[in-house]
Amino acid sequence: MSLPDDAEVERAVGLLAAGEVIGLPTETVYGLAADGTSEGSVRRVFEIKGRPPGHPVILHVPSAAELDHYARLVPEQAQRLVHAFWPGPLTLVLWRSGRVPDVVTGGLETVALRMPAHPLFLEVMRRLGRPLAAPSANRFGRVSPTTAAHVRADLGDLIPLVLDGGPCAVGLESTIVDLTGPRPRLRRPGSIGPREMWDRAGVEVEADDGRGPAVPGSLASHYAPRAEVELVPASELWPRARSEAAQRRVGVLCQGVVPDDLPRGVLLERLGETDEELARGLYAALRRLDERGADLVLAVAPAAGGLGAAVTDRLRRAAGRRN
Ligand code: TXA
Ligand code: MG
Repeated sequence: MSLPDDAEVERAVGLLAAGEVIGLPTETVYGLAADGTSEGSVRRVFEIKGRPPGHPVILHVPSAAELDHYARLVPEQAQRLVHAFWPGPLTLVLWRSGRVPDVVTGGLETVALRMPAHPLFLEVMRRLGRPLAAPSANRFGRVSPTTAAHVRADLGDLIPLVLDGGPCAVGLESTIVDLTGPRPRLRRPGSIGPREMWDRAGVEVEADDGRGPAVPGSLASHYAPRAEVELVPASELWPRARSEAAQRRVGVLCQGVVPDDLPRGVLLERLGETDEELARGLYAALRRLDERGADLVLAVAPAAGGLGAAVTDRLRRAAGRRN
């Protein structure tokens, strides 16, 4: 992979300025980006994703200084979180200012703001001089893309450009913290957990109370591959793989030692040993199992602490009943 040159970055900026929608890398997942100040451009994002209208999208900003511009009230706890974690995989939900178009917030009085850490994304925003509204660049309800090739496979026919910034370093969508209530609340777990927010910013973030708006990332079945996904206890992983293999194509997301007497036809996707590697490789592995024709994917939930909570959250949603 070669990083885009200056001419390609200029092309991206020109397309966005003309109201087009393009694929851009962030450190979490690839985004489907549009000028966040243009109603029409953001509406195109919904059409391209097949996302029902009325769902809010994250507004990405090029610096922490823009916070006051798009949020009406910035509590001290928000300042501390921004200071500790921006640019980075943390999204803050705040009261919106009048400068945020309705289509971005899905009609809510709140707005989700984030300054991403990817140099290409930041460079495009700076040259454009506008914030970028960007949901993950997948079709609605499917697994988020962590490479430019994933974006092209999902949406390549519908958008004029995907800037290739390499595979995403984090691999899971940003942590979302809601600061519009009496106390900060987690709305979506991500690589930055409550523990870290306490340690590095002195902000206590409460567990999700399920009272946030019923937004896409919070639907029970989301981030789903085509195959059925099932979370099993570690001790049942290989026995289940063996018995299922007699009836259908089984994929296994695995770490550690793999038994050498598995039936032929069990599709293995090895993930790294650390939680970071697991998070980084998870979505690509789910996509590969879809391509390899898995009917069922078996996975073991990682230990609950830190990033493990975010990985488990995504696996649960992938396992959520569909239809
Ligand atoms: O890492 C990420 O956050 C990626 C990259 C591209 O930045 N973006 C992403 O966007 O995951 P999306 O649209 O796939 O998920 C955004 C989440 C959704 O669950 C959405 O409902 C929630 O943010 N959200 C956006 N605005 C909100 C608001 N005002 N209040 C509550 N939730 C909001
Ligand atoms: Mg998404």
